[in-house]
Amino acid sequence: MRILVTGGAGYIGSHVVHELLTAGHAVTVYDNLSTGHEWAVGEAELVVAELGDRQTLARVVARGFDAVMHFAAHIVVPESVAEPLKYYRNNTGNTLGLLETVKAAGVPVFVFSSTAAVYGMPDVSLIDEQTPLAPINPYGASKMMSERMLIDLAAAQSLRYGILRYFNVAGAHPDGHIGQSTPVATHLIKVACQAALGRRDGLAIFGSDYPTRDGTCIRDYIHVVDLARAHVQLLDHLVAGGDSRIYNCGYGHGYTVREVVDTVQRVHGQAFPVHEIDRRDGDPAALVADSTRLRTELGWQPEYDDLETIVRHAYRWERGERSG
Ligand code: UD1
Repeated sequence: MRILVTGGAGYIGSHVVHELLTAGHAVTVYDNLSTGHEWAVGEAELVVAELGDRQTLARVVARGFDAVMHFAAHIVVPESVAEPLKYYRNNTGNTLGLLETVKAAGVPVFVFSSTAAVYGMPDVSLIDEQTPLAPINPYGASKMMSERMLIDLAAAQSLRYGILRYFNVAGAHPDGHIGQSTPVATHLIKVACQAALGRRDGLAIFGSDYPTRDGTCIRDYIHVVDLARAHVQLLDHLVAGGDSRIYNCGYGHGYTVREVVDTVQRVHGQAFPVHEIDRRDGDPAALVADSTRLRTELGWQPEYDDLETIVRHAYRWERGERSG
């Protein structure tokens, strides 16, 4: 198949591109390299352009693709609170432009990279896809609006979509050739690995008075390769004529911040400075996916459902990270 991947040079996109190439597909990546890297796309064709450049986008999409997979987005929650319009322009506005070109070119399948942030702070222990959408920050809202445009467009014409709502994506490819390489890291496992390697002074735990087993927040950490494979399975389902679907992507169990920190210290073989500070704004106590639908409908079987494995891969990547 011929697949167009926006944001394919970034962290999650590059792992999906790798799985697509391994499955024998012809992949074109469309990326402005603002946070992505040329080396991350492997053998895929790379078009370096802005998503907001409608002319270039229309020219590329018009070449004819079996599916578009859309990853390009800003993803830093606190930044989205400080600069909401930046998020609505890039995440929502540019998705609108992309959908217009997809409609004009008659691309039959669209896979969208969404987030657990669309659920906000749900009062349930396991979040399934029926949980009401109630984002509490512009990042989550920008993704929720994109979902809605896609769903409405698909209802109006013959487009089939897949929406994947990611919980906390972490880890790196086990062979060490790709991983998370964003310039300013905010995600817990990456930050903790950097603290272990002495690249920052230590780690701050944001809040230790949550109603959880040890007072720190619980998250459902999913290995990026398991997540990438879910995309390929969803793509196969849609291209074969399957119905449009929405799936939560997580393992169905979570770890506290302290458990993550302990695991990073164990993998590193040494403790590093950790201090507790106040809660960070907008952090729900616990976010854990009910991923039953993904497992039963698509037959998704994760290979790396183990925190220590996720941390080992993230740590190895961080130690030998490419600078390119
Ligand atoms: C958030 C979004 C998620 C999104 C991701 C993208 C929400 C609810 N979740 O994940 O959908 O895909 O950002 O950026 O908006 N922590 C520390 N110290 C640190 C870093 C993190 O204690 O230095 C804690 C946080 O308070 C949190 C947990 O670790 O409890 C995970 O944080 P993080 O890795 O930033 O991800 P989320 O905020 O859960």
